[in-house]
Amino acid sequence: MYGIVNKAIQSLITEQFGEEEWIAVKEKSGVDVDFFLANEPYDDAITYKLAGAASEVLGISVGEVLQAFGEYWVLKTAKEKYGGLMEAGGNNLKEFLINLPLFHNRIMLMYPKLTPPEFKVSDITENSVQLHYFSKREGLQEFVRGLLSGLAKMYQAEVSIELLQSRDNGSPHEIFKVSW
Ligand code: HEM
Repeated sequence: MYGIVNKAIQSLITEQFGEEEWIAVKEKSGVDVDFFLANEPYDDAITYKLAGAASEVLGISVGEVLQAFGEYWVLKTAKEKYGGLMEAGGNNLKEFLINLPLFHNRIMLMYPKLTPPEFKVSDITENSVQLHYFSKREGLQEFVRGLLSGLAKMYQAEVSIELLQSRDNGSPHEIFKVSW
């Protein structure tokens, strides 16, 4: 994944837990990179190692690390660095989710070596949608849950996020029902 992802993990831990905790996470992860460059692609293993080490150092599950990271990504990284792009995503949560399948097409213009997630939306009602998440990567469903709750906060919406299907249970992809 591009360095911007690892940099954001670093910022999240430094801001919310402290510089020393970040140093401990970095050490525990065994990741031997001094500075992450945002526009440089890195091996996915680095990101997974950082998430695993954060779980151990902070005493929370990997799922909780990924969830916190998803929220941080939307509310801090994306908002601060790509505010215009986020605002163009929709006037409310429902619009943003309906537009989400096309979102990373624009990101790919900036990060040409991106391996993006794929999203589809179905069962659109007045107060809910089902979001289908397809990924070449494993184990990121709690990251998606965090992204969704970050988006809800961004739009000041109260949501419930229900995982209807998961690869963990033999389904081909994840389906989240987001209701507000
Ligand atoms: C301006 C905002 C955003 C930027 C710059 C961005 C950029 C990226 C980057 C660089 C990656 C790493 C993939 C790689 O390097 O190959 C990524 C992955 C991902 N993004 Fe985004 N993204 C943004 C917003 C979003 C939003 C709003 C969502 C969903 C709600 C989202 C969902 C994901 C997911 C789930 C992944 C993990 C990749 C996978 O499953 O394979 N992103 N994005």
